[in-house]
Amino acid sequence: MRRLHLVCQIDDAMIPEIKEIKEKALEEGVPIIKDEGLAFLLKYIETNGCKRILELGTAVGYSAMEMAKLSEDIHIDTIEKDEKMYEQAIDNISNAGLSERIHVHFMPIEEYETKDRYDLIFVDAAKAQYGRYMEKFLDNLDEEGAMIFDNMIFHGLIYKADEITSRSLRSLVRKIIKFREMVQNDKRFDIMKFDDIGDGIFVLTRRKSGS
Ligand SMILES: C[S@@+](CC[C@H](N)C(=O)[O-])C[C@H]1O[C@@H](n2cnc3c(N)ncnc32)[C@H](O)[C@@H]1O
Repeated sequence: MRRLHLVCQIDDAMIPEIKEIKEKALEEGVPIIKDEGLAFLLKYIETNGCKRILELGTAVGYSAMEMAKLSEDIHIDTIEKDEKMYEQAIDNISNAGLSERIHVHFMPIEEYETKDRYDLIFVDAAKAQYGRYMEKFLDNLDEEGAMIFDNMIFHGLIYKADEITSRSLRSLVRKIIKFREMVQNDKRFDIMKFDDIGDGIFVLTRRKSGS
């Protein structure tokens, strides 16, 4: 397993308009990436020089804006199916002057079709669908690209799935556990696992033949 050494800190003072968006999202209970997870993601993008990014799950555009702010060369497609979220994301991105580089697609991820290739696919939408998303967008991932999955420990619930009384929540958590097992045993991929960062992060890259 390859290792990454990352400094997981972000400096909100540098980007005040995004800080406001983050605070409003947290106040309103909009699920956005945790600071540590975001710092990891940004460091990964910088270290690997990612320029073409596909994000699954926009919410209000917070993570997309943070990624786009890293470099003028970064272009992002991001997908959101909730109309209210989509409208807020469009406003936020436009107010920050990032509409040229962040394209928000208002539709279910399942319906997004593209032949574009991305060097990073950031997966942050319906947790039960991670396996499907991975297969759907694999052909859009550059040979050297990576898929990054957030919420891989799902608030720590993967460690106590049997104690969860809500049937639907238990079922969701079991699906995440199944995805974790499946992807780690899939010989097509190398997985870097960071369960102690943010809400748990997996980085998937294509395994080179012979390794
Ligand atoms: C965790 S939030 C994304 C947070 C965002 N990446 C951030 O950190 O700022 C997940 C979003 O994915 C959206 N979503 C969930 N399932 C979806 C689907 N099938 N198609 C499109 N959007 C979906 C939800 O509406 C929600 O806004």
